[in-house]
Amino acid sequence: MRKPVVLITGAGGEIGHGLIARLSESGSLIITLDISPLDASLAPLVTREFTGSINDLSLLERVLAEFEVDRVFHLAALLSTRSEFTPVTAHHVNVEGTLNLLEFAQHQGESHGRPVVFIYPSSIAAYGFPDLETKTRAGAVTEDQYAHPTTMYGCNKLYCEQLGHYYSRHYKQLSADVIARVDFRCVRFPGLISALTLPSGGTSDYAPEMIHAAAKGQPYDCFVRPDTTIPFMAMPDGVDALLTLAAAPRERLTRSAYNVSAFHPSAAEIRDVVLAAFPEGRIGYAIDQKRQGIVDSWPAAVDDSAARRDWGFDPKYNFERAFQEYLIPTIRQRYRK
Ligand code: SER
Repeated sequence: MRKPVVLITGAGGEIGHGLIARLSESGSLIITLDISPLDASLAPLVTREFTGSINDLSLLERVLAEFEVDRVFHLAALLSTRSEFTPVTAHHVNVEGTLNLLEFAQHQGESHGRPVVFIYPSSIAAYGFPDLETKTRAGAVTEDQYAHPTTMYGCNKLYCEQLGHYYSRHYKQLSADVIARVDFRCVRFPGLISALTLPSGGTSDYAPEMIHAAAKGQPYDCFVRPDTTIPFMAMPDGVDALLTLAAAPRERLTRSAYNVSAFHPSAAEIRDVVLAAFPEGRIGYAIDQKRQGIVDSWPAAVDDSAARRDWGFDPKYNFERAFQEYLIPTIRQRYRK
């Protein structure tokens, strides 16, 4: 008999690193799909590594034939800055790739007769304010407010939230003999900050880049204004959110997409904390007006009370703890090696 496995797409990325470690500690069998081979540190933790594209349907068919997947963490995507340079490719990967994975999950569910839990990271990029004044006035926004993204990535994420809901609740609703087999669950992540990896191609990257550069003793110019504010979360809490949502009883879930966040410092506040920890760091500002415009369209804070109420979301790291207990000690150790 085939054993149930977890499929992680984009497994070699920032979230994948933490997620693979946590899932393997808990004894789950993991298979991965990533466009690049996994790091040597991750490969031993997985049962099978597929290297290829989420748009390669024959590869997905092979996975379907060989494994019984009962959970999918679909992390593969091009982030927001990268997507603005190649919007058509972004759409191809972020939207068509997600459609392929939803179809894959439906077929998996049909083949083993149970719903496949499908975890999808959406983003604060799904929001879009017309101007800074509206952002400042709005404060912490709920999931259904200001969902008018200004980036290709944000459009992709918002649409895929809807697509997931469709596969979960309304798939082929007019066909009497079809049962929706996808149990779609989504978090809208804020900026994520990891001590172990650096993001590539995101617009919230100024925060992690500042920290890692200072720890390495390299000068860094922050590409947004000092007053720029968006929500953030430490990576362990991000991974925890995905696992907690995946394990939540379905009847407790009142929505498909949930805001989550932990703290929302300004760029200047992040700089201050980083320089207090690494006094030799040199952090200046060189504003990139276009990237600034993207971050100004994202909320300064989100209301994540639905996640706290429905599935017990409860991040461990506030701003101070994230830096003092996770980022600074872990990053110090990492660059000392
Ligand atoms: N961190 C992401 C980005 O900047 C937002 O989801 O693209």
